[in-house]
Amino acid sequence: MSDTVEIEASEGVTTITVSRPDRLNALNTATLQALEETLREARDEYESRVLVLTGASEDAFVAGADIEYMSQLSVEEAQEYAELGHRVTDAIERFPAPVIAAINGYAFGGGCELALAADLRVASERAVIGQTEVGLGIVPGWGGTQRLSRIVGDEQARRLVFFAERIDAQDAHAYGLVGEIVAHDELDDRVGTMTGELAEKPKFALRSAKEALNQVHESHLTAGLRYERRLWSGLFGTDDQREGTIAFVEDREPDFE
Ligand code: COA
Repeated sequence: MSDTVEIEASEGVTTITVSRPDRLNALNTATLQALEETLREARDEYESRVLVLTGASEDAFVAGADIEYMSQLSVEEAQEYAELGHRVTDAIERFPAPVIAAINGYAFGGGCELALAADLRVASERAVIGQTEVGLGIVPGWGGTQRLSRIVGDEQARRLVFFAERIDAQDAHAYGLVGEIVAHDELDDRVGTMTGELAEKPKFALRSAKEALNQVHESHLTAGLRYERRLWSGLFGTDDQREGTIAFVEDREPDFE
């Protein structure tokens, strides 16, 4: 565990918390590297059936890349920072279990991009979200230009990016940027309910569902359908598939691995 990224795991639910509250959890290189390492740990060393990403602050999920650090970067250093940001967002997107972004406050720039790479986004009513980079003379650089429009649609993405808009949770929900909004002090409970439910589901089925859904953006329909067929039939080699279908036939609740 690093000073700025915490990991906690219990009953298949792993929670990673970015914790740099004096900078509203802004991601400097050390924090971003720690996040990369912690995601690897969550994947390889814990039995993570579901992963939660959140920020340790009353006000912030992640207030973005570290602007002070960026103010002095050369082109070569910026390239390395972007590559690191891409490795982290890819690791979230490809994490072999559902990832929920619990957006407890500000999620700007790179913070918004971390959330976009997650499978599901639940926002506190206090959240304020935006791809604000144009206001800094740059563009989203950790996947935002690609993932945002896939989630909210092309026109909305252009509006958000061009105007560097900071939108509240209600607007984020109306744009489809977050799946649901909850009262600030109910965020943990709501996410707890979701993770509890997901952790009980058959893990190979969830993992395959995520992989197949990710393919929507990676391939043409024909290749995506081929991929889906392969994953689908592969699950017939798992105990969970037998248990899930036999439990239905026997009219009882399944007992998944
Ligand atoms: N990078 C580096 N430092 C940041 C930061 C970031 N992205 N976001 C906030 N901070 C720092 C502030 O500089 C401040 O540091 P200080 O106490 O040494 O002055 C501290 O975090 C608290 O932020 P502050 O601005 O005082 O809080 P606020 O409540 O008035 O405003 C925000 C909060 C999030 C609205 C404001 O900090 C902000 O707009 N941040 C930039 C967001 C952004 O554009 N991110 C995208 C980067 S790609």
